[in-house]
Amino acid sequence: MTVQYKFPDGFWWGSAVSATQIEGASREGGKGLNIWDYWYEKEPDRFFNGVGPDTTSDFYHRYKEDIQLMKEIGHNTFRFSISWSRLIPDGIGEINKQAIQFYNDVIDEMLANHIKPFVNLYHFDMPLEMQKLGGWESREVVEAYARYAKTCFTLFGDRVKKWFTHNEPIVPVEGGYLYDFHYPNIVDFKKAVQVAYHTIIAHAKAIKEFRSVQIPNGKIGIILNLTPSYPRSSHPADIKAAEIADLFFNRSFLDPAVKGKYPEELIALLKEYDQMPEVEEGDRELLQSNTVDILGVNYYQPRRVKAKSHLPNPESPFMPEWFFDNYEMPGRKMNPYRGWEIYEKGIYDIMVNIKENYDNIESFISENGMGVEGEERFIQDDMINDDYRIQFVKEHLKWLHKAIEEGANVKGYHMWTFMDNWSWSNAYKNRYGFISIDLQTQKRTPKKSAYWIKETSQNNGFTE
Ligand code: BG6
Repeated sequence: MTVQYKFPDGFWWGSAVSATQIEGASREGGKGLNIWDYWYEKEPDRFFNGVGPDTTSDFYHRYKEDIQLMKEIGHNTFRFSISWSRLIPDGIGEINKQAIQFYNDVIDEMLANHIKPFVNLYHFDMPLEMQKLGGWESREVVEAYARYAKTCFTLFGDRVKKWFTHNEPIVPVEGGYLYDFHYPNIVDFKKAVQVAYHTIIAHAKAIKEFRSVQIPNGKIGIILNLTPSYPRSSHPADIKAAEIADLFFNRSFLDPAVKGKYPEELIALLKEYDQMPEVEEGDRELLQSNTVDILGVNYYQPRRVKAKSHLPNPESPFMPEWFFDNYEMPGRKMNPYRGWEIYEKGIYDIMVNIKENYDNIESFISENGMGVEGEERFIQDDMINDDYRIQFVKEHLKWLHKAIEEGANVKGYHMWTFMDNWSWSNAYKNRYGFISIDLQTQKRTPKKSAYWIKETSQNNGFTE
C-alpha cells in the first residue's frame, strides 16, 4: 500500500500522561501528599466542578487493562511520569516499597506488550513536604530532587532507556509564581526567576547522576512546551516584543538545556531590571557539562504578540507583559473549549528552528492534542466520533512530515493523551484522550481517533 505521508522507519507512535493526572490512589499505596492533593483540600472551588486529584482515571488499579488498550491502538512507546511523592513520600527520606512494586509492574507490563517506556521525573507535582521547604525556591529541594532522580535511574534504568527530567518546567513558574493557576499562588517575578533557575540546576544535576549511573543505551532529555512567538507585523517594535516573549517563554529553558548556557540577551534584561537569581559557584560549569541527549517538544498553540500600546503601571508587579501585549490575530482558528489558537504550521516552525539553531538535536513531539468539552454530543453507535481530533492530528502530522523531509531530526509523535484524564484546574472539563472514560464507572471506550491512530501507526503514516 502506498502511503502518502510516510514517516521514518521505527517512528515512535504513542501518547503521554502524567502521574497525578491518571494514577488516582492519591492516598493509597503509601503515597505522600503533593501540592495538588493539598491545594484541592484547601480550595476545592478552584477545580472545575470541584473535582480533585484523588481518583482521576484510576490507572493505579487498571494499568493492565490500559496497557492492553495501548497495544491494541498501535502504541510502540508511551510516556508516563513517576510521582515523586509516591516513590519518596516526604521527598527525601525513605523509599516506598509499594511504589517500587507499582512502577516495576507498569514497566514490565509495557515491555511484555512491546511498548517502550519513556519516563519523566517531574510533572508539576511537588511533594508537599518539599513545598514546605520552599519547593523550587530552595536549593535543598534541588538536592533532594537529584537524589530522587538517581534513585529512579538505579531502580528502573535496567529497563527504561528514555528519561526526561521535567515536563514543561516553565508552567510551574508561570502558574505558581506569576499568574496564579498553580499552588503556591505567588505573584513575584524575582521568585519566579529563582524557581526557573533552580529547576534547570536540578535538571542538570539529574543529568550528572544519570551519566554516573551509566544506563546502557540510555538517553536523557527534557520536555519543553515551545510556543513560537509571532510578531503582529514586521514593525521593529513588534519584532522586538516577539523576541522578548521568546526569551522568557522558550529560550529560558531551551538554551540552557540544549546549549548549556542562558541567552546573553536574557541575562542583560534581568540585570537591567534587577531580577537576577541567586547562583552558586560551579553552577555555570554544571550547566555547560550536562546538556540533553534528546528534546521532547510539546506543542499546542502559538504565541502572538505586539508592541505595548501603553506603558505598564510602574507600581504594579513586574511581569513579562511589561515588554509586549498579546495579539489576537483576526480570523485565527480557535479551540474554543480550551481557548487556544490552533496553528498547525507552528509545529514545523519549531522543528526548523531546532534544526537550524539547536544543532538539529534528536527530538520528538512529546505532546500535541485537542481538549474538547461535552464530547458525549458526538456519540454514535456507542462511540465518540471525534473527527475534529483526527483532523487536528492529521494537519499537524503533515507539517511535521514536511519538517522531517527537510532534514529535521524528529523521531516520533506522542499525543496528549492516551485516555481522558484529570487536568490541573480544569479537571475533566476538556477531554483529550483516544479512549474515553465514564467517570461514574471508569469504563474505557475507544473513540474514533483510537482506530485512526491504530491504522496510522500500523502503516507508519497515512493517506488523505
Ligand atoms: C500540557 C501538560 O501543558 O498540556 C499536561 O503537560 C496538560 O499536563 C496538557 O494536561 C493539556 O492542558 P490542559 O490544561 O488543558 O490540561
